[in-house]
Amino acid sequence: MRAVVSVGGSVLVPELDGDRVSAYANVSDALIDEGHELALVVGGGTVARQYIEAGRSIGADEMALDQLGIGVTRLNARLLVAALGERAAPTPPEDYETAAAAVHRGDVPVMGGLVPGQTTDAVAAALAETVDADLLIYATSVAGVYSADPDENPDATHYDEISTDELVDVIGDIEMSAGSSAPVDLLAAKIIQRSGTRTLVIDGTDPERLRRAVAEGDHEGTEVLP
Ligand code: UTP
Repeated sequence: MRAVVSVGGSVLVPELDGDRVSAYANVSDALIDEGHELALVVGGGTVARQYIEAGRSIGADEMALDQLGIGVTRLNARLLVAALGERAAPTPPEDYETAAAAVHRGDVPVMGGLVPGQTTDAVAAALAETVDADLLIYATSVAGVYSADPDENPDATHYDEISTDELVDVIGDIEMSAGSSAPVDLLAAKIIQRSGTRTLVIDGTDPERLRRAVAEGDHEGTEVLP
C-alpha cells in the first residue's frame, strides 16, 4: 500500500525528544519492511506555537507568523530524516513533484510546510493526491474528528465515520489563524473531498497505534468517507 502519513507536531515533538522521533522512524521502517510505500509530513508542535506566540507579541502579521511556523515544521522534518537515515530523501521536499519523484525512486520524502495560509494537514492531503495514495492518515493528539473541540466542549461527539461534505462543514466552523488547532484544516478537508483519498484521523501519540492503523486498518479514530 502507498500511504501518506501526517505526523502532527504535537505527536512527534510534544517536547524535543530524540527517542520519540526515533520511535516514529522505527514504525516507518517496520511498515516499509512489510512492503508499504510511505511519504511523511511533519507538523510544528510546541516549538512552532512558541515562535508564533513570540512573533505575535511583537506585532508580526499572520503571514510572517505562518513563515515562522513553516520554518519549524521543516526543522522537525529534518530531525525525522536524520532518524530515518538512508531510507529518507536527504532534504525535505519543498514541492509536491520533488516529493513524488522521491516516492517513485523508493525513498521516503519527509515534508514540512510549504506556503502561508494553511497547515501541514493541507500539505499531506495534496501530497496524497499527487502520489495517488491508497491511504492518507493523520496521526494527531486527539482520537479523531469531533463535532466540536473536545477540550472545550465536553458534549462534543466523536465521529467513527464522517463524509467529506460533513467534514468540510465541521472544520469550516473553526477559526483559522496561525497556530489554530482543528483536527485537519479546511483546505485539507477540501482537497480530500475532491480527491476521494481514503483518509483516517487517529490518535497517533502511541507510535504502535500508527503502525497498526496503517498495516492492519485497526484504529479507534475517524474514517473519512469519500
Ligand atoms: P502545523 O501543520 O504543525 O500546524 O504547522 P497546526 O496544525 O496548527 O499544529 P499541530 O498539528 O498541532 O502541530 C505549524 C504552523 O506553521 C504554519 C501555520 O502557521 C501553522 O499553524 N504553516 C504550516 C503554514 O503557514 N503553511 C504550511 O504549509 C504549514
